[in-house]
Amino acid sequence: MDKLAIQGGIALSGEVTISGAKNAALPILCSALLTAQSSHFTNLPHLNDISTLLHLLAQMGVGVTLDGSDGLVLEGGSLNNPLAPYDLVKTMRASILVLGPLVARCGEARVSLPGGCAIGARPVDQHIKGLQAMGAEITVEQGYIHAKASRLKGARICTDMVTVTGTENLMMAACLADGETIIENAAREPEVVDLANCLISMGARISGAGTDVIRIQGVEKLHGAQHRIMPDRIETGTYLCAAAATGGQVRLLKTSAAYLDSVVDKLMDAGCDIQLERDAINLKAPQRLKSVSLRTAPYPAFPTDMQAQFMAINAVADGVATIRETIFENRFMHASELQRLGADIQIEGNNAVVRGVARLEGATVMATDLRASASLVIAALAAQGETVIDRIYHLDRGYERIEEKLARLGAQVRRIH
Ligand code: EPZ
Repeated sequence: MDKLAIQGGIALSGEVTISGAKNAALPILCSALLTAQSSHFTNLPHLNDISTLLHLLAQMGVGVTLDGSDGLVLEGGSLNNPLAPYDLVKTMRASILVLGPLVARCGEARVSLPGGCAIGARPVDQHIKGLQAMGAEITVEQGYIHAKASRLKGARICTDMVTVTGTENLMMAACLADGETIIENAAREPEVVDLANCLISMGARISGAGTDVIRIQGVEKLHGAQHRIMPDRIETGTYLCAAAATGGQVRLLKTSAAYLDSVVDKLMDAGCDIQLERDAINLKAPQRLKSVSLRTAPYPAFPTDMQAQFMAINAVADGVATIRETIFENRFMHASELQRLGADIQIEGNNAVVRGVARLEGATVMATDLRASASLVIAALAAQGETVIDRIYHLDRGYERIEEKLARLGAQVRRIH
């Protein structure tokens, strides 16, 4: 397993380019299943999760042709195997996003239950409930979801909680259903909007994406489209936190703060000077950050995917911060690893109290999940001495060429194979 060795104590400075959003690319790639024609996607990040999904789509018969450095063409006409096997789904939970499109396009699907992951049980009951409301007959046997529907029919669906991929799965399925589907309590995340814009360019009739009520008028067929994946707001927030934690000054390119208000506000509260441009963000950190408390919640509130990164910056800030995680039941696993670096963190249920320390000391730590590993990178960059982070395959799932981008910002980081 690869490791990252980081020599901390260096203030990050310089420019780095943000990649396309993983959590927009994943559902958008699945939307290619909805049409027999070809679709051309650009600004795709080179991530393990993307490669895993492309392997799954190819196994189903979808034509995958790479196009230049960050583009590809998916052709859904040769789709002939509506099966998502366990060995692929278990490594990439978002594979559940093929379920809705397969039922809508093929009238059937066999998709392995994704199972839980480090941060929680991650059930998909809302995905199933919504498809059943649209007339799909669904059984769950031997760890697989078996779904059948001659043709889905429009329905009014209100999910029990806000679910990002649940909203995305149901919105994609509804595009080819007979009649109107209304999704209430829908997720408002920007990645849901990016998917809706892609579907609309394929001929779908969708209104309300970005609000908590999305209306979809089903159509007979969708056609191919061109779509550029939106910038990754979580990668953006992660590099902003890395610069903030090291007292640095950075400029992030090909990104926007449009979807990061809650994160930018918190970084300003922490003492950072942030200047926004149309497609760039500039951050100048103070010598020492001020602690900032936060509570995660669905968009537009503070994103759970930035919680771990803010625990790291609070570990080296002045004061005491309270972090409340309301989305996932086990998303504090980075805390014990941060404590190995000298952080002062008390966990009580879904609350964490973080008391800033004068400085962290390098140590050997272990990544447990994608955003936890980002938190360890940030802490390692701020710590005195060398930190070695093990199991960084977690990082490679969601951060493109991270050591290259960090080195461009002046960090001393090397990958140990
Ligand atoms: C998406 O996961 C993201 N992944 C996650 O990012 C992100 O943390 C999460 O949304 C919340 O914003 C992708 O978009 C690929 P949910 P998702 O369904 O859709 C419960 C990352 O780091 N729930 O919005 O799986 C669930 O257990 C990843 O990039 C049900 O109970 O999350 C959770 O407590 C991590 N039943 C809450 O809802 C369901 O059927 C929100 O989950 C669905 C969800």
